[in-house]
Amino acid sequence: MRQVVTTRNGGVEVLEVQNATNPNAGSGEVVIDVRAAGLNFADILARQGLYPDGPKKPCVMGYEVAGVVEKVGDGVDPTLLGQPVVAMTRFRGQAEKVAVGANQVFAKPGGLSFEEAAAIPVNYLTAYALLVVMGGLRKSESVLIHNAGGGVGLAALDIARHIGATTYGTASLGKHAFLRARGLDHPIDYRNQDWLPVLKQLTNDRGVELVIDPIGGAHWKKSYEALRTTGRLGVFGVSTASANGLKGKLKLVKAALQMPRFHPLGLLNKNRGVFGLNLGHMWHESEKVAEWVQAIMTGVSEGWIRPYVDKTFAFEQAGEAHSYLELRKNKGKVVLVP
Ligand SMILES: NC(=O)c1ccc[n+]([C@@H]2O[C@H](COP(=O)([O-])OP(=O)(O)OC[C@H]3O[C@@H](n4cnc5c(N)ncnc54)[C@H](OP(=O)(O)O)[C@@H]3O)[C@@H](O)[C@H]2O)c1
Repeated sequence: MRQVVTTRNGGVEVLEVQNATNPNAGSGEVVIDVRAAGLNFADILARQGLYPDGPKKPCVMGYEVAGVVEKVGDGVDPTLLGQPVVAMTRFRGQAEKVAVGANQVFAKPGGLSFEEAAAIPVNYLTAYALLVVMGGLRKSESVLIHNAGGGVGLAALDIARHIGATTYGTASLGKHAFLRARGLDHPIDYRNQDWLPVLKQLTNDRGVELVIDPIGGAHWKKSYEALRTTGRLGVFGVSTASANGLKGKLKLVKAALQMPRFHPLGLLNKNRGVFGLNLGHMWHESEKVAEWVQAIMTGVSEGWIRPYVDKTFAFEQAGEAHSYLELRKNKGKVVLVP
């Protein structure tokens, strides 16, 4: 089989398509013939050497796939054979075949293409955990979605709209028309102006009840300032550090130094909350995640979960796919196909 290998830390030139032996299904596992694999910002940070959770290099990245079950191991329901599925993979997803625990595999919704199905797991589980599970967003409330035009951003928008909350979102200006068409109430250009005064003006100086922030560093302090009374800040990424080589390492150190410290008494007196989410640290909670998947798949069948694939790249174009995200060209999801 062919797979996309991140050979070492570096720019997109370190990505290579290499041949490898087909995997076998161990006990409790299935092997999926991969038709589409999601690309995530974590794959880029891993290539840059800035992702502490990434496997040792050389490695095959990939947290999610859609495909067809072609082998089942001991203890796995044999009727899964030949079924179209979507799965969470703990790396190695960007390959023609992947072995994965049967508890991480879910039926592919019939109305979605393999590419659309591969766009669901990471983006929608992250957004669901941030907005519903930990953020407790309610109909009467408002939410600020940073990077609203990205993969997690669009997923969060679908969920916030379903809840009925008022939505604010930061994004590059070129994505605003698209975001309005997807239902975002208030797009904010954060690249050419300071977004906080704009948000304050739009909310009559009150702020919002929920902010989800994947940018990190000093940006988390600013997002905290955007909270209304009873507001919650969900932190879930440090994309501000993204860069190759030494520059990336320095940006990561800077981001760490500039992160705010939240004092419990400050939270208490301001009626605010701060929480963090790392989906990659949920593998031991597969039952909880399966329940979230169920809610998301219900959303697919009801039509309010609408995975949006911006662009599909062949494995050989993995470098172009990475650049597409790094250069902020993507609206929603980028998917790799074998
Ligand atoms: N903790 C978790 O469990 C978890 C799970 C999934 C994702 N994440 C994090 O969530 C963020 C979004 O992930 P994603 O996979 O959905 O990616 P994405 O948002 O589709 O990624 C790219 C978009 O992010 C924006 N962006 C902001 N800062 C950027 C930078 N320094 N370089 C490039 N783009 C930047 C750009 O949009 P604009 O044009 O609007 O600037 C760009 O189009 C990442 O930080 C990721 O690490 C965390």
